[in-house]
Amino acid sequence: MIVAENLVKEFKVYRRRPGLLGSLGTLFSREHRLVRAVSGVSFEIPAGGKAAYIGANGAGKSTTVKMLTGIMRPTSGRCLVSGLEPYRERRRNAANIGVVFGQRSQLWWDLPVPDSFRILRRIHEVPDPVYRRNMALYRELLDLDALGTTPVRQLSLGQRMRAEVAASLLHDPAVVFLDEPTVGLDLVLKEAVRELINHVNAELGTTIMLTSHDIGDITAICDQVLVVNRGEVVHQGTMRELLRTADTRAVVFEYQGEPSPEQAITLIEGHLEGASARPVEGGRITVDYPARRWSARQVMGFLLEHFELTDCVAPEPDLETVLRRIYTGPDRTPEALV
Ligand SMILES: Nc1ncnc2c1ncn2[C@@H]1O[C@H](COP(=O)(O)OP(=O)(O)OP(=O)(O)O)[C@@H](O)[C@H]1O
Ligand SMILES: [Mg+2]
Repeated sequence: MIVAENLVKEFKVYRRRPGLLGSLGTLFSREHRLVRAVSGVSFEIPAGGKAAYIGANGAGKSTTVKMLTGIMRPTSGRCLVSGLEPYRERRRNAANIGVVFGQRSQLWWDLPVPDSFRILRRIHEVPDPVYRRNMALYRELLDLDALGTTPVRQLSLGQRMRAEVAASLLHDPAVVFLDEPTVGLDLVLKEAVRELINHVNAELGTTIMLTSHDIGDITAICDQVLVVNRGEVVHQGTMRELLRTADTRAVVFEYQGEPSPEQAITLIEGHLEGASARPVEGGRITVDYPARRWSARQVMGFLLEHFELTDCVAPEPDLETVLRRIYTGPDRTPEALV
């Protein structure tokens, strides 16, 4: 289980004056401002859960993950990973978790991948059967053998990411933090990584916390979603619940007989305040309506009363539209406090 209670991380950012003298001046001046990257975040991810931690660039996701993995100390608040406080109990926490930072390698830069794995095996004291089982799985799903004996620094981004994901899981950790684990991967490899993550979750009950800008990752893997904006969690719940926060809903219907499509559109827009209707292919009509003003029941009731319906569907709002509305809300940069 992962718990965050009012977690805060502030960074001191020193003011730099322009030019070389300005840079030198920065060395001596104490003039700074505080940037609040994570601003009182609270959430709970149950053991065995698969949570997406999503938000716009700079929302505070990686900073939160760094606190949960023990790399950074919270400014205030508390976090617990399987009952351990990561920053205070770094070693015990490290044995219990796996981490991938897509933007930064955890592997030994100058060593070939197989050597990195041998070192990790020793560090984590991975029992032989576990090591063999996991390596067989990674070979099968990620085609690890293809990486050969090339040093990590010479691997392509996609090749390195495969090794990173495998390395994070080698010791069967109870909790895995994946910060953009599919960055730079092609479609086939993305699929493979998603499959691997779902596999370890199903087989071993591994708790997953995933950060990604790839909607496909989120929908393929996660059963709950945490949306963070400007350092605060603005939504926690299932994907379905997040989608329900969409302020516009749609109904697509088909009818026979009267009235004409033009008349139908005028009729709908005249009666359902705030709704807009448009013809779509196949002689159907789409109605977008504000969810706050009208319930689905009211809209359906109206359509049934005025049209002889032959088909009618209410498509789910899509995640991209919902996220775009959250991300482009007022002021997306973290507040400067001082
Ligand atoms: N070491 C640091 N010093 C100063 N500011 C930092 C530091 N690390 C992060 N920040 C700031 O904190 C904010 C949150 O950064 P963070 O990396 O957590 O965002 P993120 O949600 O992971 O973004 P992305 O989607 O781009 O990876 C940003 O405004 C960033 O500039
Ligand atoms: Mg990040």
